[in-house]
Amino acid sequence: MSFKTQIQKRRTFGIISHPDAGKTTLTEKLLLFGGAIQEAGAVKSNKIKKSATSDFMEIERQRGISVATSVLAFLYKDKKINILDTPGHKDFAEDTFRTLTAVDSVIVVIDVAKGVEEQTEKLVEVCRMRKIPIIVFINKLDREGKDAFDLLDELELKLGLSVTPLSFPIGMGYDFMGIYNIYEKNINLFSGDSKKNIEDTIAFNDLGNPQLETIIGSEAAKTLRDNLELAQGVYPSFSKEKYLEGNQQPVFFGSALNNFGVRELLDCFVEIAPSPRAKLAEERLVDAFEPNMTGFVFKIHANMDPKHRDRLAFIKIVSGTFERNRPYLHVRHGKKLKFSSPNAFFAEKKEIVDISYPGDIVGLHDTGNFKIGDTLTEGESLHYKGIPSFSPEHFRYINNADPMKAKQLNKGIDQLMDEGVAQLFTLEINNRKVIGTVGALQFEVIQYRLEHEYGAKCTYENFPVHKACWIDPRNSKSEEFMEFRRVKQKFLAKDKRGQEVFLADSQFSLQMTQQKYPSVKLHFTSEFE
Ligand code: G4P
Repeated sequence: MSFKTQIQKRRTFGIISHPDAGKTTLTEKLLLFGGAIQEAGAVKSNKIKKSATSDFMEIERQRGISVATSVLAFLYKDKKINILDTPGHKDFAEDTFRTLTAVDSVIVVIDVAKGVEEQTEKLVEVCRMRKIPIIVFINKLDREGKDAFDLLDELELKLGLSVTPLSFPIGMGYDFMGIYNIYEKNINLFSGDSKKNIEDTIAFNDLGNPQLETIIGSEAAKTLRDNLELAQGVYPSFSKEKYLEGNQQPVFFGSALNNFGVRELLDCFVEIAPSPRAKLAEERLVDAFEPNMTGFVFKIHANMDPKHRDRLAFIKIVSGTFERNRPYLHVRHGKKLKFSSPNAFFAEKKEIVDISYPGDIVGLHDTGNFKIGDTLTEGESLHYKGIPSFSPEHFRYINNADPMKAKQLNKGIDQLMDEGVAQLFTLEINNRKVIGTVGALQFEVIQYRLEHEYGAKCTYENFPVHKACWIDPRNSKSEEFMEFRRVKQKFLAKDKRGQEVFLADSQFSLQMTQQKYPSVKLHFTSEFE
């Protein structure tokens, strides 16, 4: 198979949702269709259960499971599908944001009863900003939920999407009868039997056909016709170009648990979803079809087994082919590295591969060479963009509790930050270290891991920060900038990359600062134009 065909057959995507909307269930049903697993229940949920929020060991154990489900690959209709796992738990939102830098498209799962939820809003906003093509799957139609039109409105209003339904439910909850598939122009009737793959679709090119009454009853037929007419009047017809540009989002309805509407989603997905696309590096736009290998690290996973301390760095191949035992340039270190056992992922298995293509994810055993955002090339100095840090939500001073182990502590902190567990800020005024995390939980995780993996002990001290704002350095010689630095000295810090950050202690002080020093540009992510 030619290099070009290999690229064109790949579909690398992520499923995002608020916890409990049905991401794991949908993933599992997709794998069943792909023949990657044989029975339901085979995919272990890597979601972090609500009850576990105070039990970080349980969380680490579940993070361990998530190595196996980090990438789930399977073949379907001759397409190589790579699903990248995105943790739904909000304390790991940063992991999900980073994973979104490695996908070519996403499927958003929405619970029909709950509609658009908080976590979905944040994640979709990131996708929209990056123009990632989005398909929406409204799940749990076997339960009572919101009206289909209300949900479509909600998607537009809360998520800022421009939707067009590609399927439409017939009834809902107790009265749920099936789906009209607008994309394929047929009706699927719901049997309510999760083991049954729904294959008996009824083609329906002409909705005026009186057979519709016979099949679903006259009342349901009338409602369906009215609904479809209304939908046609209100929503634009589907345009693949607009979808690929990120300007239109098709919507499907179904029930993942009952395996209903999933095949329609998957069939449409393999047809319309993009194959690996060009990616912007600081230096230039890199096309997937370029012969030279380039790729970047978007995730690092520590091995939870204390006997094998190595880590797995996940690389997304952007262009060229990644080959086993071939030297590649680690751009940040400026040195060439060879990998004798790159892992590829297939269904739930990890195996050593000789060659990988754009769109694929390769897992590399790492003893501390990599950090998130690192680029590998065949010699070119390239830096991929789009892996920004966001302001953490919680901040604490970190203190050394065992003076004999200062070296171990620093090394531990360093490596944990490279993995992206949390962010480190060093205060300019006194060099004290401040850890910033998305969830309060990570402090316990860090403390535990420092002790068990690095033999170092730490304590924390509260440090009230409302938001970390990255300071645009371009104006730094101006009077106003100098004054800002003088006045706000004790709130200035450097992040791990050496970028300067203003740690605002309250919303009010942030606003006052912005008003008082308008030429000092503050950004809420570490990457800005
Ligand atoms: P998540 O990964 O997005 O967090 O959600 P997950 O798939 O784990 O689904 C959350 C709950 O919703 C699960 O129930 C799951 O069985 C249920 N669910 C998923 N799809 C559907 C659907 O189409 N219809 C209905 N009625 N329920 C659905 P649970 O009781 O929390 O877990 P479990 O004990 O069933 O595993």
